[in-house]
Amino acid sequence: MRIALARSLVVFFLCSCASLLYVWTGLVEIGHGRSKRALGTPGAAVLTRQPDKQSPKTFRALLEGHVVHKARFSAYKNISNHTGYGSATGNLKVEQTNLNTHNSNHQQVHTGLHGLVEDGVFWSDRLESLLPRGFSNAHAQSWKSETRASQIVSLEKGCGRTSNRLARFSNGTKACVRYGINPDQVQGETLSYYLAILLGIPNLPPLVLSQVNPNSGQWSRVRGEVMDSQWSENAVVSLTEWVSNLTGVVTPAPLRQEGRRLHPLREDLDNRTTGEVLELVQWTDLILFDYLTANFDRLVSNVFSLQWDSRVMERDTSNLHKVPSGGLVFIDNEAGLVHGYRVLEMWQKYHETLLSSVCLFRKITASRIFDMHRLQDAAARLLILYRDSEPLAPELGFLSEDQAGILQNRVDQLYKHILNCKEKYSQF
Ligand SMILES: Nc1ncnc2c1ncn2[C@@H]1O[C@H](COP(=O)(O)OP(=O)(O)OP(=O)(O)O)[C@@H](O)[C@H]1O
Ligand SMILES: [Mg+2]
Repeated sequence: MRIALARSLVVFFLCSCASLLYVWTGLVEIGHGRSKRALGTPGAAVLTRQPDKQSPKTFRALLEGHVVHKARFSAYKNISNHTGYGSATGNLKVEQTNLNTHNSNHQQVHTGLHGLVEDGVFWSDRLESLLPRGFSNAHAQSWKSETRASQIVSLEKGCGRTSNRLARFSNGTKACVRYGINPDQVQGETLSYYLAILLGIPNLPPLVLSQVNPNSGQWSRVRGEVMDSQWSENAVVSLTEWVSNLTGVVTPAPLRQEGRRLHPLREDLDNRTTGEVLELVQWTDLILFDYLTANFDRLVSNVFSLQWDSRVMERDTSNLHKVPSGGLVFIDNEAGLVHGYRVLEMWQKYHETLLSSVCLFRKITASRIFDMHRLQDAAARLLILYRDSEPLAPELGFLSEDQAGILQNRVDQLYKHILNCKEKYSQF
């Protein structure tokens, strides 16, 4: 009897030690933060936990570890004629009043929807007039032409992964150089930028393409750095305007909490300062934009990570920053359109979750979506703008017909979503 009791105690002691060890190991892992998203399905990723530092790299793995898809620039050669859009750029002037963003009115606390929402589901004109101006079309045009004409005088480490560089130009400006392990990444970055312009979303820094050639005027002064970079010869890289004083951005409460929702309801908007509401306005654009481009490498990845990391929303959102005026800056859009569409099956339910959480829209964004739905010409418009704006467009290529079809389908889904919201809230 005593022997049996002693044996039970020993077994009990060993089990307790094992449990403690198990719990401790788990805590250490959780303490490391976000888990690695492994190559494969989101479900599979839950099984493969890695330290926090690694998590951006896993998206990189997702971006890099796929079969290179041949882009077909010529597929849309003839479409341009039927849209009636001449130079799309000329039609895209986003009318936004610059605001003094340090205006004390931004501290004003709102109760109710009055002054914030119009026609059921649209942010009011008054709010629109207070929005940080973002990267205006005029600014982008002058930045682009100056950057194209300037020599790069130094290439330093910076701007994220080891293959990216911070470039300094002879005119004193700086840009982030993004080198794609395959062309899809630069395509995704570039076409996302032009899609944002088509939608009137002014939150993406201006971008130009450049072909790396140590013998060309633009690159000759950094020949040595180019040689050291291990970039392939004649690679097409993207240069995006370097923005100073960026800070991190945490997802705002209505989109962060369980049952996230940003609808035209008092509970969702009450007791917020004008500054907070202006940030929400920009988030609604961000969610629509990431839905269209199927970019999982921002808020969507956080929603996915909630499965095992309940505090992920309390940390800064990846690839999103803010300037001191309150303007959000959407950087690193390389997962959009091309690769995002390829892995859509894995991520669609998270994209849908986020889209359904938003029933408030900027009028300009909604109207561009309505136009692209009515004319069924999303890819055609994008191609015209891209081709007219970017001399290296033929080098980099465009969406395949399948990808163009997915883009149009997502425009149509957004159109339906906006109509459903309108139907639901117009009577209020
Ligand atoms: N246009 C820019 N202006 C200023 N800083 C930038 C810009 N683009 C990138 N950065 C800085 O570089 C960091 C990484 O940028 P980015 O996300 O584009 O590269 P990445 O290779 O994906 O890096 P990460 O793995 O950190 O996401 C950003 O968090 C930001 O601090
Ligand atoms: Mg990034």
